[in-house]
Amino acid sequence: MDKYLISGGKRLYGDFFVQGAKNAVLPLFAASILTKERVVIDNCPSLLDVTNMANILESLGATVTREGNYVEINPKNADNIEIPGSLAKELRSSIFLLGSILGRQRCAKIAYPGGCDIGLRPIDIHLKGLETLNVDIKDQNGYIYCDATKIRGGNVVLDYPSVGATENVMMAAVTAKGTTIINNAAREPEIVELQQFLNAMGAKVKGAGSSIISIEGVSSLHGAEYTTMPDRIVAGTMLICAAMCGGSVTVHNCRSNHIQALISKLQQSSCKLDIFSDRIELVSTGRLFSIESIETQPYPGFPTDLQAPIMAMQAVSCGTSIITENIFETRFKHVPELIKMGAKIKVSSRSAFVRGVPRLVGTNILAEDLRGGACLVLAGLKAEGTTEISNISHIDRGYENWEHQLTALGADITRRSNN
Ligand code: UD1
Repeated sequence: MDKYLISGGKRLYGDFFVQGAKNAVLPLFAASILTKERVVIDNCPSLLDVTNMANILESLGATVTREGNYVEINPKNADNIEIPGSLAKELRSSIFLLGSILGRQRCAKIAYPGGCDIGLRPIDIHLKGLETLNVDIKDQNGYIYCDATKIRGGNVVLDYPSVGATENVMMAAVTAKGTTIINNAAREPEIVELQQFLNAMGAKVKGAGSSIISIEGVSSLHGAEYTTMPDRIVAGTMLICAAMCGGSVTVHNCRSNHIQALISKLQQSSCKLDIFSDRIELVSTGRLFSIESIETQPYPGFPTDLQAPIMAMQAVSCGTSIITENIFETRFKHVPELIKMGAKIKVSSRSAFVRGVPRLVGTNILAEDLRGGACLVLAGLKAEGTTEISNISHIDRGYENWEHQLTALGADITRRSNN
């Protein structure tokens, strides 16, 4: 497996261009099989998760071709109904295909999904939502068997505003007869993106971005061309990175309204932000005030995907910070690695108590998941000496071409391939 070698302590200067959003594009890929016509997705990031999703679509019978960030999906023959365990375990988002396979074929057999090991990540809310649409579900030998021959619109109430469950129910409902209402829907920008994509395919979906989504079933969908929005988590990671390393960085392709919760925290930490419609300019001395309290919440609250990156920043800020993770149970796997670098952090239940130290020191550390891995890159860029991060395939799942863009900003980071 590849490693990163980072020689830390460099300030960062220049321009960073944010890629298309991974968590938006994966459901769009899943939704593409709701039609038999050609679908084109532009600004599609080149990432391991996206390749895995393309492989799953091909196993269903679709063809997927890519030229740079332009992807064409031909779902004409995507008539298989089964996702085997070998593919599902590579990618949590394979679960979205349950809704779209049902929308297309009215039956599905899908293995329990994989993905980052950050907590239990059950799918009970997805299944309960589909059952409300009259889908018959059986669970046997690690597979979920679904029969949707009697699917129809329904009044779905989600017990929690789960992003994946909201997306799954939307995809199953667009071609179900009648009207579906999703109550307590997730409000993330990625849900709005899915609504826009489905509507571009001829669906009738309203309300995404609020907690009530209504879907009027249509008989069929047609092909569409769509440009993916920028990745708010990558934009946020880079703002945090520039703030803690110090220097002056402009993050382009960045929608500030998608990261308001982060912006307000950064404003408390003494870096200077200039916000424009498509970019944010950040200037920082690299020595910041600690943010007293950070709690992850469903959107528009502070995103769980930025909890690990901002912990790297708190580890070297002046003061103390309490970071509470409310979304996933075991999302603190970066903490022991930060401690190896000299951070002062204590975890109790869902909260991490971080006492900022003047410096971190480079050492050998291990990325255990995607955003935790990003946190370690940030810590390595700030630390004195050399940091070696193993297992960076986790990081490759979410950050496109990262070391090249960081190098262009003045960072000293190289990939060492073990092959
Ligand atoms: C998505 C994102 C992920 C992000 C998360 C929260 C993708 C590919 N992934 O994940 O990056 O961190 O949203 O913003 O878009 N839950 C249940 N039962 C369910 C479903 C969820 O209990 O059936 C719980 C989960 O265990 C978790 C919480 O609900 O505690 C949030 O999960 P959810 O919003 O579904 O996250 P994902 O869609 O998995």
